[in-house]
Amino acid sequence: MWVDALRAAMPEEDVAVASDLTEKQAVDAIDVALVRGIDPGDLGRFRRLRFIQCLWAGVDRLLTDPSMPTGVPLARTVDPAMADQMAATALAHVLDICLLHHDYREKQARAAWEPRHAKSMATKTVAILGFGSLGRRCAEYIAVTGATVIGVRSIRTTAADHAPWTTTANVAEAVAIADVVLNLLPLTDETAGVLHAGLFVRFRRGAALVNLGRGRHVVDSDLLAALAEGQLRRAVLDVFAEEPLPGDHPFWRHPQVTLTPHVAAETDPATAATVIAANIRAFRAGRTDRITGLVDRDRGY
Ligand code: NAP
Ligand code: GLV
Repeated sequence: MWVDALRAAMPEEDVAVASDLTEKQAVDAIDVALVRGIDPGDLGRFRRLRFIQCLWAGVDRLLTDPSMPTGVPLARTVDPAMADQMAATALAHVLDICLLHHDYREKQARAAWEPRHAKSMATKTVAILGFGSLGRRCAEYIAVTGATVIGVRSIRTTAADHAPWTTTANVAEAVAIADVVLNLLPLTDETAGVLHAGLFVRFRRGAALVNLGRGRHVVDSDLLAALAEGQLRRAVLDVFAEEPLPGDHPFWRHPQVTLTPHVAAETDPATAATVIAANIRAFRAGRTDRITGLVDRDRGY
């Protein structure tokens, strides 16, 4: 699917599958790599790379790859269609939590007719950790319900950059007022393990966590303890430190956990190929400033 979509979007480029290339072709002919799900070290064969386009939104895996060349521009995928998919997923989980649908699934399994009062969405606050291309689209979808949204971004960005949204660089301040905390941070040295016991105690008691970012944002044992103590009421987890999640992990069968297998928003070749083709054209034209999603290696996202 990728090869067909890319060839259609940029007929001026020769698109080859890496595993089909001889070592000589890899060295002599390849100057742009479109990377998705590689094993560490795979980029080492391409010694003349001048641009790397990650076919994922998150570049955390690539940045820790020892074969990742330094000094070569790297872009992550920024695709409005992917943002819509992520926002639909986030909205579904927020509504499932706030309207207690997860509770009715459990009651249905017991044939229990037990209505509960769900407060109106206008009384709810959702904190979105990571207010980038995905987080902001989630905010738009969630705000339609009447819920209040607060975005968390890095210290480097000013509040005005995200107008009209309310944002803060103070994660503890945001989680303290939220009924649902939605994580969409990139995984970096600064954000690894950010969802740990010291932050969970700052959550509003009985709040829920929706983690659609990366598994290594969460300290699993701290999350399990916070759920057991009632500090957190529920967790929705799409991403895990180890994927696939091992079959004996307590998250699988936890009554307060909803689990999906890293499917919150996939890159769709049908839409992403256009964005990627535009990036490659910008690179060929020497207009690195026009590349969408250019990664700042120092920041790690
Ligand atoms: P992005 O546009 O780069 O946005 C990242 C946001 O995080 C920005 O608002 C940034 O702040 C903020 N941020 C970074 N470091 C921070 C820190 N230390 N403290 C507070 N805020 C910080 O990224 P994106 O395209 O929205 O993607 C976000 C992540 O979603 C990806 O990295 C990936 O891990 C995950 N993802 C998951 C799936 C899935 O299927 N589960 C799919 C796609 C993506 P500034 O605005 O100040 O720069
Ligand atoms: C998926 O997790 C992505 O980063 O695109």
